[in-house]
Amino acid sequence: MKRFILSAFLAAASLTSFGQSIIPQPVSLQQGSGKFQFTNQTQVVASTPEAKRLAGLLNQYLKKRTGAELKIVSKAPASNYIAFIEKTGLPAEGYELKATPQSVQISGKDAGLFYGLQSVMQLITGDAKPEIASVTIEDHPRFGYRGLMMDVGRHYMPLSFIKQMIDEMAMLKFNRFHWHLTEDQGWRLEIKKYPKLTQVGAYRDETLIGAYGDRMPQQFDGIKYGGFYTQDEAREVVKYAAERHITVIPEIELPGHATAALAAYPELGCTPGPFKVQTTWGVHKDVFCPKEETFQFLENVLTEVMDIFPSPYIHIGGDECPKDRWKESEFCQNLIKKENLKDEHGLQSYFIRRIEKFLNSKGRNIIGWDEILEGGLAPNATVMSWRGEEGGIAAAKENHDVIMSPNGYVYIDHYQSKDRKQEPLAIGGFLPLEKVYSYNPTPKELTAEQQKHIKGVQANLWTEYIPTAGKAQYMYFPRAMALAEVAWSPLNRKDFTEFSEQRLPVYLRKLEKRNLYFRVPDAIGMPKEDTLRGSQFTINLKAPVEGAKIYYTIDGYMPSEATYPYSKPISLTIPQNRRVDLKTIVVTPAGHRSIVSTTTLVNGTPMPDKQPKK
Ligand code: ACM
Repeated sequence: MKRFILSAFLAAASLTSFGQSIIPQPVSLQQGSGKFQFTNQTQVVASTPEAKRLAGLLNQYLKKRTGAELKIVSKAPASNYIAFIEKTGLPAEGYELKATPQSVQISGKDAGLFYGLQSVMQLITGDAKPEIASVTIEDHPRFGYRGLMMDVGRHYMPLSFIKQMIDEMAMLKFNRFHWHLTEDQGWRLEIKKYPKLTQVGAYRDETLIGAYGDRMPQQFDGIKYGGFYTQDEAREVVKYAAERHITVIPEIELPGHATAALAAYPELGCTPGPFKVQTTWGVHKDVFCPKEETFQFLENVLTEVMDIFPSPYIHIGGDECPKDRWKESEFCQNLIKKENLKDEHGLQSYFIRRIEKFLNSKGRNIIGWDEILEGGLAPNATVMSWRGEEGGIAAAKENHDVIMSPNGYVYIDHYQSKDRKQEPLAIGGFLPLEKVYSYNPTPKELTAEQQKHIKGVQANLWTEYIPTAGKAQYMYFPRAMALAEVAWSPLNRKDFTEFSEQRLPVYLRKLEKRNLYFRVPDAIGMPKEDTLRGSQFTINLKAPVEGAKIYYTIDGYMPSEATYPYSKPISLTIPQNRRVDLKTIVVTPAGHRSIVSTTTLVNGTPMPDKQPKK
């Protein structure tokens, strides 16, 4: 018993020595000696209105974390202060940070100063006695577009959660929130000229139960579902995000993924309808018909959208538009002839070009999913490459700007482990943290000049199977931290082992203290292999969340708080022709649990298991 207590203490002590810990990893960070300690005399020096605003944000953060606030002054005292210093000439969005025992100085301009503050907040250790270890940082982002997408069409997400996500995005130095507002299953933005878009289009009769296609006949929950954001609420999100240097990019899907709009205004379809707000997932065949009245409608909608969202970019979708209705429509076939278009892909291109022309005439640019390449790109479009990188590569070669968002690397609606039975229902795929982290958005196929068109990277959360904020958080975190580093940190500063074993555990514990949910990673050091062969094993484990405990079994039963607590390397001798299943689980200080991870240790050729008689 004594031995356990001692080694548990040693394990806990080794967990606290993580050092300076910022996600995303800065361009350069040099540790100094000593530390800056907050006292009740510590002051914040802020002389410009923006610096004063940031000082207020720092105080809000400190108040939540430590219960104390600092006095804001405009002139620096001799020592014991944190200063926001306006400095020009740094790289875009860049900042410098110097912490010594005497002061903490954050220098930069606009977003740069804001990101310096984010780094300071991450560097503070200790809640009761906050301090910052001495450090010198120079930092700026690798990409100008660092995005996360949230689909609120399939499931409506509450405003409070959206704001919470914007706070988390800011902390990770993301600067684009792509808000996917319209879908076959729901139109979520109030449009004053077309009230039926939300009166009708925001509600579906019911929702498919479970995974698409896993039950035949399909089953439905029989519950009316819906919701939408008023224009005032959307403006509130825009303002909240802007205060955190995040641009909200609205997406209004066209010409496909539009049945909720058609349910409200059937005259915009190619057939008389009626159409219904969809209750199943997937791609639906009823799409906008390229009639004059459709363009009039979309221009009116987009006029209101532009009034709410000052973003220079409006996302117009463009993906997954089936051509069935256009093929069957005499009107569309005549239009193809009249406009001298090649086929229905040409018609899609015509559709997007018209919308682009309208938005360009109002001083805005379009972003579209990579299908907008088919039939020819609109002249000024930015392409969001999601079906792999090919679309992005093709667009960059045509000198178009690109946001990389390939489904193999950044579709965070995919499963986080291969053991799907232990994970909440997801759409499919397998996207572990390491794979997100490994992503490099500048493909080798492009020349250095063409790579300049890769403006950045974005992860997407489609919400077919994500009805709650808790599940959304489980899917976002910790993969969003990996993406933050892909988007911000220079390649030579990326190191998955160091990220996942040193900085992420610290970050996740803070996330937990902020009452956010996340997927608890497996114990660090648990073999990735399902089976390891040998007779002698020493398994060295570390907690993936600061302060978390690891429990294990070797008897094939489920690990839990009732089984062995991990306190020192597990040494196992496997006799000839035997095997042992090592199972671990991680439980965080707040009680969040990882899935159970299993590795079978095999020596020789064991007999197969016999099922015990019940
Ligand atoms: C997409 O995932 N359909 C853009």
